[in-house]
Amino acid sequence: MKLTWLGHACFLLEGSKRVIVDPFIPSGSFEVDVDLVALTHGHGDHMGEAIALGRKTIAVNEIAKFLASRGIEAEGMNVGGTISVDGVDFTMTPAIHSSWLEAGGVCCYGGVACGYVIKMDDLRVYHAGDTALFSDMKLIGELYRPDVALLPIGGRFTMGPREAMIAAHYVGAPLVIPMHYSTWPPILQDPLEFKKAIERTTDISVNVLSPGEHVLVKPETIRRTGGKG
Ligand code: NI
Ligand code: MN
Repeated sequence: MKLTWLGHACFLLEGSKRVIVDPFIPSGSFEVDVDLVALTHGHGDHMGEAIALGRKTIAVNEIAKFLASRGIEAEGMNVGGTISVDGVDFTMTPAIHSSWLEAGGVCCYGGVACGYVIKMDDLRVYHAGDTALFSDMKLIGELYRPDVALLPIGGRFTMGPREAMIAAHYVGAPLVIPMHYSTWPPILQDPLEFKKAIERTTDISVNVLSPGEHVLVKPETIRRTGGKG
């Protein structure tokens, strides 16, 4: 699987399908084509180009209904459930965060914020969404055994590096990629400090990507070392 960070919380997963999560691209250039869209919550820095993309979209029920009213084919679900869409499995995980939808200058209820474990081609990617640290991340690790964890480290609106270090430990994925930092001054963080701190104390690898940069995740190169859960 080719995993590309497009900035902020936006990741493109390319394998047998092309899946984009939270298609807000801070650089503004948006030239990717995808098969599926997954949304973690309704905030503008996550919904991004969801409607413009016009693809089948996985989201919490409230957002799915909103998208359907705008002509998007939406797969609604809720936290704790798993659905298979075109051969890709989406498990919706809890996230501690708020959500809303903006429609015609009015904010409306957007359901709960969430994360996902996305399973494609026998690889499992946990996108935590916007969230605080919570101890049930251990359960996400135990139940779904993610190969890669995408964790917010920006602080202020989500957990910061200190909490994300504990999250990485709880989830136990052998590879962590930080996200949702330094897009704007209020969430400025040094991802290399985060990387150093985790790699000093655990056998988890942290891959700090630049926007547009990708990592190739292969089943044979991801080795679960155990005991980190
Ligand atoms: Ni948010
Ligand atoms: Mn956000």
